[in-house]
Amino acid sequence: MLFRQLFDKTSSTYSYLLASRRGAEALLIDPVFEQTERYLKLLEELDVKLMKVIDTHVHADHVSAMRWLRDSTRCITVMGEHSPVEIVSMRVRDGEQVTIEGLGLAAIYTPGHTDDSYSFLMDDRVFTGDTLLIRGTGRTDFQNGNSYDQYHSLFDRLLKLPDQTLVYPAHDYKGDTVSTIYEEKRFNPRLQVKNAEEYAAIMASLRLANPTMMDVAIPENLKAGIVLDAQRRVPVVDVPELLRTWPACDYQLVDIREEGERRRSGTIPGSIHAPYARFDQFCGKSGPLASMARHGRILLYCAVGERSTLAVEIAGEFGLDNVAHIPGGFKAWTNAGGAVETVE
Ligand SMILES: [Fe+2]
Repeated sequence: MLFRQLFDKTSSTYSYLLASRRGAEALLIDPVFEQTERYLKLLEELDVKLMKVIDTHVHADHVSAMRWLRDSTRCITVMGEHSPVEIVSMRVRDGEQVTIEGLGLAAIYTPGHTDDSYSFLMDDRVFTGDTLLIRGTGRTDFQNGNSYDQYHSLFDRLLKLPDQTLVYPAHDYKGDTVSTIYEEKRFNPRLQVKNAEEYAAIMASLRLANPTMMDVAIPENLKAGIVLDAQRRVPVVDVPELLRTWPACDYQLVDIREEGERRRSGTIPGSIHAPYARFDQFCGKSGPLASMARHGRILLYCAVGERSTLAVEIAGEFGLDNVAHIPGGFKAWTNAGGAVETVE
């Protein structure tokens, strides 16, 4: 496995690059805007293809590189389902897996630092965001933070992991790089408490200054997605237009979400499946979409319209010009009362 712990000095942030091997798909956790060029260079040097970027929560102390990485590599942006970011390519729930070729990370909902904080467990290691730090924990005094929630996220979730689990946090201000669940249980001063009230009392006594970047970072990070207006930079067919003649439909509908998303929320009846991760293969000369596009119009959709915007662009590069997408994606469809078919 390729595993790189990358550091941003200004914000003391750790970002993590994961891939199963050279030449495989890669995933980045909590990337920092100022380091974008460095990530892109490293991806090239390691010969890996960035497929997903995860932000563990909306960061207040740095601007996330998520959107720039998406624009340069067309990767999938991933956050937990509680994220207040309006458009995220893919949202995961507690217990769901985020997968790339050869690797899987289980999402663990760990609110407290913020109400959208998630941790991600991969085999022997857990990426704890700002929930559990090395000999510390993330502050709980803004972004709907709550020290009681954090107590439960720590004691009922993260500290229940096996003792030897490696802890990789999103920040360290002292130069530590990695810890274990055992070490943190024993030596983390904030975890030497008897109950949630004691923990909340410690957190309430901290009185920390706001992060210097906060006023810039939070609004920037909240608007990281390809919003509806921007989704119109490629050909679109809006939901009301589709519903006007439904179930008659002039288009071949193509669902480009992942199998897990389709099983969780169903699909639009009559859709075929062409997952975004392998979308270029579907558009290639002998791919099924290439021959379909010669005979009729193709309408792509994903969860909220971000991946499908990028997919229309990919199709265009393959010379498929008969391709449009649904702005707002499956969410816009279901919000408008469109029919849904379950996926077994
Ligand atoms: Fe944070």
